[in-house]
Amino acid sequence: MLEARAMKSQIAEFFANQTVFLTGGGGFLGKVLIEKLLRECSDVSKIYMLMRQKKGKTPQQRVSEVFDFPCFDYIKANNAAIIKKVHVIHGDCQKPDLGLDPEDVRVLKAETTCVIHAAASVRFDQSLKEASYNVRATRDILELAKQMANLKCFIFVSTAYSNPLNAHVKEDFYEPPIEAEKLLNVVNSLDDSVLQRVTPQLLGEWPNTYVYTKSISESLIRSIDTFPIAIIRPGIILSSAKEPMPGWIDNFYGPVGIATGAGVGVLKTFHAKRDAVAAMVPVDYVVNALLSIMWRIGTEKTKTPTVYNFAGHKTNKITWGQFTDNLRELYWIAIPKCLFWYVSFVLRENQISYKLTTFFSHTLFGYIIDFVLFCLGKRTLAVKGYARLHKTLDLIAWFSTRTWDFDDNNILKLWSEMGEEDKKIFDFNMEKLNWDAYLRDSAFGMRYFLLKESLETVPEAKRKLRIMFVAHYAIIILFWFLMYKLMTFMYGLFV
Ligand SMILES: NC(=O)c1ccc[n+]([C@@H]2O[C@H](COP(=O)([O-])OP(=O)(O)OC[C@H]3O[C@@H](n4cnc5c(N)ncnc54)[C@H](OP(=O)(O)O)[C@@H]3O)[C@@H](O)[C@H]2O)c1
Repeated sequence: MLEARAMKSQIAEFFANQTVFLTGGGGFLGKVLIEKLLRECSDVSKIYMLMRQKKGKTPQQRVSEVFDFPCFDYIKANNAAIIKKVHVIHGDCQKPDLGLDPEDVRVLKAETTCVIHAAASVRFDQSLKEASYNVRATRDILELAKQMANLKCFIFVSTAYSNPLNAHVKEDFYEPPIEAEKLLNVVNSLDDSVLQRVTPQLLGEWPNTYVYTKSISESLIRSIDTFPIAIIRPGIILSSAKEPMPGWIDNFYGPVGIATGAGVGVLKTFHAKRDAVAAMVPVDYVVNALLSIMWRIGTEKTKTPTVYNFAGHKTNKITWGQFTDNLRELYWIAIPKCLFWYVSFVLRENQISYKLTTFFSHTLFGYIIDFVLFCLGKRTLAVKGYARLHKTLDLIAWFSTRTWDFDDNNILKLWSEMGEEDKKIFDFNMEKLNWDAYLRDSAFGMRYFLLKESLETVPEAKRKLRIMFVAHYAIIILFWFLMYKLMTFMYGLFV
C-alpha cells in the first residue's frame, strides 16, 4: 500500500520547483516515471510532456488517456489536482527539430531545468530509416538543451544492449558503428529501396536497427560538456516490483509477450540458452535509478557525461532457464482464464530442435486451427499469426542465447551515496530483489492488467487448465497409440 510521507528526501528536494521536459512520457517507462514524480516529488513545478498526434487523436487527448491507466489510480484518488502540473507539448521525434511550435521552443528554452529523453521507436524489426529518427531526435533535443538557460541535468534513456558486440559492457562510451551525421546523411540521400538494400552492409554484425541507432545516439551525448548529462542503460524492462502497484505492465514486449503467449497455451517454445543471463529489471527500479541519477549529476554539477548500466546485480541474476522453470510453476497458480490450450512450454537451446518444435507445436497446430476455421466459414489466421510470432522470436533469440557482463560500479556508487530515506523511496537495489516473488506478482499483473482478468476467475481458470491437461495428454497418448498401430500394420505387410 502506498503511503504519504511526512519527511522529504534529498531527491524530492532536488526536484522541488524544477521544470522537467520529458519525451516518451506516454510509454511504459514514461507513465511510471510521471506517476513517481507527481507522487514523491510533488513540489516539482511543471512537467512538459512531448506528445505526438497519432491515430486521429490530438496530443491533448492522448495525454488525457495516459491518466486513465490504473498506474495513476493512487494519484487520482489522493491528489488528483497535481495532474495539472503536466502540460502537453505538441511534438514528434520523426519531424525535424522535434516538430515543435516556435512558441513552445521559447517556453522550453526559458523554463526547462531537467530533461529526460526517453522517447524511441523500440521495435526490433523497423527499417533503418524509421530507426534513424531515434538518432536525429537525440541530436535535435541536445541542440535544444544547449539553449536552455537554466538547465541543471539531462538524462538519455538508452539500453543495456547498445554495445551488443562486446560481451563485457563497461559504463563508458564505445565507438559507434557509424558517426551520427554520416548515418543521417546516408538515410537522407538514398531512396528507400536502395537504403533497404544497403542496410545489411551498414549493420554488419549488429543484430537490429534499434540497438544500432541507440549506440549512435549515445555517441552524441559523449561530446556534451556544457551541462550535467548522463546515460542510463536499462536491461529488459518488465513489470513493476512495488510501485505504483506490484505487477503493473502495459505492453507485450519481449519476455512479457513470451510469458503471455505461453500462458494462454498458444506459444510452446522459444530459443534461448538455459544458462544465459536474462538481464531483466522492474520498471519502477529503472525509474528510481533514473531520478536518483538526475539528482546526483544535478547536484554534483559535473560536466563530464556519465554512463550508468542498470541490468541487474552480479550476485542476484536470473537465467533464461530459471525464468522458464519459474513460469511453468506459476501457470498453475496464476493461469489466465482465456486459456486456449494446455500450457506446455519448453526452452530449446539447440536451433534445430527449436525449429522442429515450432513446426510440430505451432505451424502444424496452426494448420489444424485454420482448417477448422475454414470449415466454419471463418477467416483463417493461425498459420500467418505463427509466422509473425516466429519472426519476433528469432529477433529475441539473438539476445536470449547470449550472456553479457555489465559493469555496475557507477550505479552501486550512486546507491552507496544515497540517504536512508531516499533508499526507501527510490529503491533500485537489484541485489535484494526476490525473483520468485517478483515473477509471481508479474504473472498476476499480466493476468490482471494485460488480459483484464480479475482474481475471482483464478479458480475457474485452474479448473479449465486441469481439463486441458487431461485432454492434452489423452491426445498425445492416442496419437502415439495410433502411430504404434500403423507401424505394426506396416510391419505386418512387409514381414
Ligand atoms: N522496454 C524495454 O525493455 C526497454 C529496455 C531498455 C531501454 N528501453 C528504453 O526505454 C525508453 C522507453 O521505452 P518503453 O519501454 O517505455 O517503450 P514504449 O512503451 O514503446 O514507449 C516509447 C515512447 O516513445 C514515444 N515515441 C516513439 N516515437 C515517437 C515520436 N516519433 N515522437 C514522439 N514520441 C515518440 C512513444 O510515444 P507514442 O505513443 O506516440 O508512440 C512512447 O511514449 C526507450 O528509449 C527505450 O529504448 C526500453
